[in-house]
Amino acid sequence: MALVTVAELARKASQGGYAVGAFNLNNMEILQAVIVAAEEERSPVILQASQGGLKYAGIDYIVAMAEVAAKNASVPVALNLDHGTSFEQAMECIRKGFSAVMIDGSHLLFEDNIALVSRVTDVAHAVGVSVEAELGRIGGTEDDIMVADEDAMMTHPDEAAEFVERAKPDLLAVAIGTAHGVYKGEPRLDFKRLTEIRKRVDIPLVLHGASGVPDDAIREACKLGITKINIDTELRIAFSQAVRDILDEDLKQIDPRKILGPAREAMKQVVKEKMRLFGSAGQA
Ligand code: G3H
Ligand code: ZN
Repeated sequence: MALVTVAELARKASQGGYAVGAFNLNNMEILQAVIVAAEEERSPVILQASQGGLKYAGIDYIVAMAEVAAKNASVPVALNLDHGTSFEQAMECIRKGFSAVMIDGSHLLFEDNIALVSRVTDVAHAVGVSVEAELGRIGGTEDDIMVADEDAMMTHPDEAAEFVERAKPDLLAVAIGTAHGVYKGEPRLDFKRLTEIRKRVDIPLVLHGASGVPDDAIREACKLGITKINIDTELRIAFSQAVRDILDEDLKQIDPRKILGPAREAMKQVVKEKMRLFGSAGQA
C-alpha cells in the first residue's frame, strides 16, 4: 500500500469513535516496533518525524523507511512532519514524499499563524497532502522546541473556530493541559475546554504530549473527539530502559542486535498497548 494521509485516517477514526496513534520515527528499530505492533493489532498507524528525527536520520532515510513500511504493510500507514517549523520545510517534506505535514505556528500571533497555515494548506491540498495546525501552546520540551510553563497557553474555543474556518487545516492540535516530555506531576486535562472546542470545530482534533497521561484521561479525550494521539517520550523510555537492562546484565555484550533487539521489542509492547487504549486496534 502507498502512504495514506493523516486526514483520511483521522476521518475514519472520528466516524468510528477511536483515535489513531502517531509515533515518532528516528531509526529502523522504532519503525519495525511500530509497524509490527500495527500489524499484530490490525491498527492504522501514523509515523512522524520531528525536527530532531529529521536531523538524526535525515529526511531521505525517514521517507525511505516509511515507504518500505507502508509498501509491505497490510494496514494503512501515514507519514507526517511533526511540528514543522516553516513553509519551506513543509514544502520539502511534501516534495520528498510525506503524506501529511504539521505546520506549527503556535508561537506566532493569531493572524500570523493563520497566514502561515493558509499558505501551507493551499499547496498541500493541491497535491493531496493533509495539514495539521496548532493553536494555543503546548508546554514542555520536544527536541529543539522548548516551551516554558509560563509560556504554555490553552486553546480558546472561539479562536479555534475562527482559526479553522480561515486557515482550513485538516486537523487541529489543541492545548488542553498536556505537555511534551516527562511530567513532573500528574497531568490534568481540561475536558470542559475540549468539549467547548469540539462543539465549535468539526475537523479532527489532535492530542500532543500524550506520554504519561493516565489511561482514563486518554479514554475520556477519545470520547470527547480526539482522533490523533502523539507518543514519543514513552518510546524513548522503553528503548533506553531495555538497553540499560541488557548492559547491566552483561557488561561485555558488544552485539548491537542483542542490545537493540530487546529495545525494539519493548517499544513494540508500548505501541500495542497504546493501540488498544486508543481503540484503533482491530480497525484495519
Ligand atoms: O509531537 C509529539 C508528541 O506530542 C510527543 O509527546 O513527549 O508526550 O510523547 P510526548
Ligand atoms: Zn507534539
